[in-house]
Amino acid sequence: MKIAIMAGDGIGPEVVGQALKVLRLVAPQAETEEAPVGQAGIDARGKPLPDETLALARRVDAILFGSVGVADEASIPRERRPGTGLLQLREALTLYANFRPAFMFPELIGASTLKPEVVDGLDLVILRELNGDVYFGKPRGFETNEKGERVGFNTMRYSESEVERIAHAAFRAARKRRRKVCSVDKANVLETMQLWREVMTRVGREYPDVELSHLFIDAASMSLMRNPKQFDVIVTGNMFGDILSDAAAMLTGSIGMLPSASLGVDRKGLYEPVHGSAPDIAGQDVANPLAAILSLAMMLRESFELEDKARQVENAVRTVLAQGYRTGDIYQPGTRRVGTTEMGDAVVQALRAA
Ligand code: NAI
Ligand code: MG
Repeated sequence: MKIAIMAGDGIGPEVVGQALKVLRLVAPQAETEEAPVGQAGIDARGKPLPDETLALARRVDAILFGSVGVADEASIPRERRPGTGLLQLREALTLYANFRPAFMFPELIGASTLKPEVVDGLDLVILRELNGDVYFGKPRGFETNEKGERVGFNTMRYSESEVERIAHAAFRAARKRRRKVCSVDKANVLETMQLWREVMTRVGREYPDVELSHLFIDAASMSLMRNPKQFDVIVTGNMFGDILSDAAAMLTGSIGMLPSASLGVDRKGLYEPVHGSAPDIAGQDVANPLAAILSLAMMLRESFELEDKARQVENAVRTVLAQGYRTGDIYQPGTRRVGTTEMGDAVVQALRAA
């Protein structure tokens, strides 16, 4: 059980520190090794993804990742941007399947932007394809048209094998849940998505016990806001998934609660909170560590098949919320406001008491 710890920048080290406390308790046999990434990589080795860090990533079974990025990220040339460290890692390890669960903790229903009855009991997963689509498709670039104007262009591309592997990932995930897959595309307008739908349908026949439905991205966005509880696993392409997963995230309240897993061809996984490095609150011990702790639970389940341990961690998170512990992002009157470290300690305490 070899795990790389890449805490990264900003609140990354703060929240990963809490997840590590939990790991030491539930899986003391785990071997961990730390490596710098993001601005931390630039500071230590001159690159957002140092060679040593990538080599470690290739050696281990799983990566616990914090967050990368600095406050004025967009003003830095692309190759020196701390955030590229994560993109390079995803590409180098072919982490194509990005799982983002959106789960409503009953204690946090008041923190959602939607009505309580719409989100009470919500439990879905968005599965976003991460290695293809218009993000990587070629040709891409700028040209000049016959009127002398500049034109920017990108190409939406998916191969059959790329759709097949994400389809299998979706159906396998559904088998561990409520056996429903909704594939989201735009097959009425785009050839890429016509292929997507055909391949999804074909792979779906290999999973007769899983119900497959299809929605166009526009209709899916509407359904996600109106009746999100109808969904179990939503599988979609890179761009639609980017947008849809952020929208789904907001259904459940705070970004500080949301874990994610990115799985590759050999089931090597990178586990990270959905949030970024939050420079506005870094170094203050106020960030919510629960997304990082829930990401660790996903790692125990997906990379190490330690379902019992994963449940124990998730139950401990539920316990501390029921006990009223809240970081600032999920604070509501009548609850107990705590910092990052205190929240991590409360989870450890709940695990010990269970
Ligand atoms: P962000 O997620 O870092 O922060 C957005 C807002 O949510 C901020 O107000 C922040 O204080 C709050 N927040 C985030 N995590 C929180 C937590 N655990 N507890 C309490 N509050 C929390 O996104 P933003 O501000 O757009 O980006 C900041 C930096 O992070 C940028 O450099 C960006 O590129 C990077 N980033 C990195 C990601 C990653 O490592 N996967 C993902 C998203 C952004
Ligand atoms: Mg995004």
